Amino acid sequence: MTRLSLVICFVVLCLSLVISIIRRGHLPLPTKHVALFIFGDSHFDAGNNNYINTTTYYQANFWPFGKTFFNYPTGRFSDGRLTPDFIAEYAKLPLISPYLQSSNHQSTSGVNFASAGAGVLSETHQGLVIDLRTQLSYFNIVEKQLKQKLGDEGAKTFLSKAVYLISVGSNDYSVIFTTNPIVHQFFNSRKEYVETVIGNVTTIIREIYKKGGRKFGFLNLGPLGCIPSMKVLVPEAESIGSCLEEATETVKLHNKKLSKVLLELESELQGFRYANHDFYASLTERINNPSKYGFKEAMACCGTGSLRGILSCGGKRAIKEYQLCDNPGEHLFFDGDHLTERANKQISELMWSGAPDVTGPYNLKKLFEHK
Ligand SMILES: *[C@@H]1O[C@H](CO)[C@@H](O)[C@H](O)[C@H]1NC(C)=O
Ligand SMILES: *[C@@H]1O[C@H](CO)[C@@H](O)[C@H](O)[C@H]1NC(C)=O
Repeated sequence: MTRLSLVICFVVLCLSLVISIIRRGHLPLPTKHVALFIFGDSHFDAGNNNYINTTTYYQANFWPFGKTFFNYPTGRFSDGRLTPDFIAEYAKLPLISPYLQSSNHQSTSGVNFASAGAGVLSETHQGLVIDLRTQLSYFNIVEKQLKQKLGDEGAKTFLSKAVYLISVGSNDYSVIFTTNPIVHQFFNSRKEYVETVIGNVTTIIREIYKKGGRKFGFLNLGPLGCIPSMKVLVPEAESIGSCLEEATETVKLHNKKLSKVLLELESELQGFRYANHDFYASLTERINNPSKYGFKEAMACCGTGSLRGILSCGGKRAIKEYQLCDNPGEHLFFDGDHLTERANKQISELMWSGAPDVTGPYNLKKLFEHK
């Protein structure tokens, strides 16, 4: 090519770029940009509940939460980072900010809508948390802002490339066992209750899909009855350390139905892709064999009672006395409900690049790479 033709080429390129900007009224986004939107409960909440009127049961914005990584309590229910923090890192994104943290959303990297204590059903901890439906209404606000910034088509393309991470449901079930001692009434309709929860999750997925969402990441539900906060509910007469079987059976049913619904959505909705991490299996495996994964203890680092399962970490709730371990990294659980940063990192690695029987049919790495 001659120098003249190079110059002409350059001018033509510049002109077409300028024309496209004038026509669309905005700069084109980098084509590779993949945002991360996060929905759900305390497994994912990076501090939204710091900004709502609630009780300390649904907040972790006090010491010793955050002691390992951030060195201050961010509102995350752990000593350090949560799985979405690691996923953001693996995807080369910055930490995704909580929606309520500022009105100027860094929406080109994504937004975190999750709220500790939240369930799928609005009745779960009603008035004290941001339920899934309200989280979706915040997402709709972000979508409107994106449309202003990128235009209707640009926003839809942007949202179709993004990944949507969802962890929700545990609270809809734990609330039954922790606030209602007459569990048998509930068991008569366990199947219907699970169907209602799954039905509502499905509705939310469909609404995100309508806005352009195509790539979804899920954590199914962990073995609810076997986490320290539930084990302490088992009557002492039954052997210490045994699981609350009714709770575990219920989440198993939930997980089975979730898998089924995701398969149905995949065949029904054009372009719908998902990564479902079998958190039930990965957490059960670590509870049963902590030392295999580098943990000294499956008991919590911070709390009260035999397994430190009572949720008193930080002394800001009803019970003021609590024990705190020296090295959270030796523990699977930080408090009676939540994993340590070290455990979260292990789970994140499985979510990111696990084989299809661990995280499938896609893993998150494949979802992020998918055009
Ligand atoms: C927060 O909740 C408490 C107790 O329900 C109530 O007394 C208070 O007025 C609320 N504050 C705000 C700002 O809504
Ligand atoms: C969603 O949950 C509500 C109760 O919170 C229930 O009335 C409704 O039927 C559920 N929707 C679906 C689709 O299951």
